[in-house]
Amino acid sequence: MDYTTTNGTAEKLRTQALIVGIYEDEGLSPSAQRIDKASEGYLSKLISQGDFSGKIERNLLLFALPGIKAERVMLMGCGEKNKFESKKLRHGWSTIIKVLEECGATDVVACLLELKPKHEDISQWARLMTETAEHASYYYDQTKSKKKALKYPLSQINFLLEQRTQQSAVARGIQWGQAIAKGVSLARDLANLPGNICTPTYLADTASKMAKEYKSLTVKILDREDMEKLGMGALLAVARGSQQSPKFICLEYKGTSSKQQPIVLIGKGITFDSGGISIKPAASMDEMKYDMSGGASVLGTIKACAELKLSLNVVALVPCTENLPDGNATKPGDIVTSLSGQTIEILNTDAEGRLILCDALTYSKHYHPKIVIDVATLTGACVIALGAHASGLLSNDQDLANSLLSTGQMSNDPVWQLPLWEDYQQQLKSNFADMANVGGREAGTITAACFLSRFAEDFSWAHLDIAGTAWNSGKDKGATGRPVPLLTQYLIQYAQAGVVPKNK
Ligand code: BES
Ligand code: MN
Ligand code: ZN
Repeated sequence: MDYTTTNGTAEKLRTQALIVGIYEDEGLSPSAQRIDKASEGYLSKLISQGDFSGKIERNLLLFALPGIKAERVMLMGCGEKNKFESKKLRHGWSTIIKVLEECGATDVVACLLELKPKHEDISQWARLMTETAEHASYYYDQTKSKKKALKYPLSQINFLLEQRTQQSAVARGIQWGQAIAKGVSLARDLANLPGNICTPTYLADTASKMAKEYKSLTVKILDREDMEKLGMGALLAVARGSQQSPKFICLEYKGTSSKQQPIVLIGKGITFDSGGISIKPAASMDEMKYDMSGGASVLGTIKACAELKLSLNVVALVPCTENLPDGNATKPGDIVTSLSGQTIEILNTDAEGRLILCDALTYSKHYHPKIVIDVATLTGACVIALGAHASGLLSNDQDLANSLLSTGQMSNDPVWQLPLWEDYQQQLKSNFADMANVGGREAGTITAACFLSRFAEDFSWAHLDIAGTAWNSGKDKGATGRPVPLLTQYLIQYAQAGVVPKNK
């Protein structure tokens, strides 16, 4: 889809469709008022007769309105005016996109910048409109024999400016939105693919393809032998039960002088989590193909960085393997030595995410990172605690946690912090090794992060538990691409703040 800005007044725009907002309580938005006036009260009559309420997510498509140049006018319900904000825009606008895909218009003008509440930033509003349109028109068809074939696919969206002076701010928002959407789509595609296609090798090949596509990227893939040489005993313990070769992806984005310390993003890449010998129950086990969503999201974020040519350095590390039962698989009670040298008693083979992540955290020291953020579908407990709305956030650096919290709000991809107090660490005590890999039923998300914190003592680190946010279950089952918007926005801001000086 192409996005541009346009000037002019609603009633005079020659376009296939014009989208205008209608509030439930306050009635017509500025553009709707102009259309109403030019059509001698067509819209106000519709509303007063009770044919359109302006309720959120309601819409109405009108043809050939008298006095209006546009072929169609699409009314978008906005709900109550003082409650209209980014979440409402997202819901209303997604519905509109889906309706537009089913109608004859392919090139449209959206009069939605004017709906921005005063406290919102115009670039962010444009970013959200772009990202939302891309999200709503995403369709997974890679493993369907019939591909999506729309008769009139939406191909061009023009945002009507209120003033010419908004142009550059809106254009910037569109650019961010498009880059984020590319990252989100990549993450969704990878996560939606089944485990028999999206194997560790498939993920590694995807990273290699990315490095071919963008000059700013370089890739290195470690295989089982490399991991053995390095001593990644924890990661290898998870891979023991799998016939697929494990891969450790290192994808580097260079956007500035190589002297600048990078931000390292680590993503969990379990391409299928059966639980291993501590096998999971059968119900919904298919959803464990999504256990590589963290890895997919860091690859997606790197793509967005490369698209935007951000001036900073970022490294994505994705440890990839399956977690399966087998005669050769790790058993409860087995003790392994991690890359850090610390020994781990594996009491539950289903707590495998932390085992692959701990070796990646230790490995990240090779890059002398400024900040390390890991992203993982780590605990069912996080789904119970926060549901599908916020990802869990735990960190050993409150400044980093604060920036992620506020960026989460700004990017409409929220996170919520849980404590990482010393008190919880004792749950990981083992009589036979330096630590156990599980800490009991209580505070499962926190003890998982406590485990990781033992491998992150030398740098600023944050952990995002995306178990509840990475995909939707039920009839709309599918990957969300979270937290690509949060991570990309964080990196945009990091690059802008000049924390990393520009390369001249
Ligand atoms: N991948 C799962 C976590 C998960 C479960 C995410 C359900 C989303 C939905 C992880 O590897 C796991 O199995 N965690 C265990 C840890 C436990 C054994 C301490 C869990 O949460 O049950
Ligand atoms: Mn597991
Ligand atoms: Zn898992």
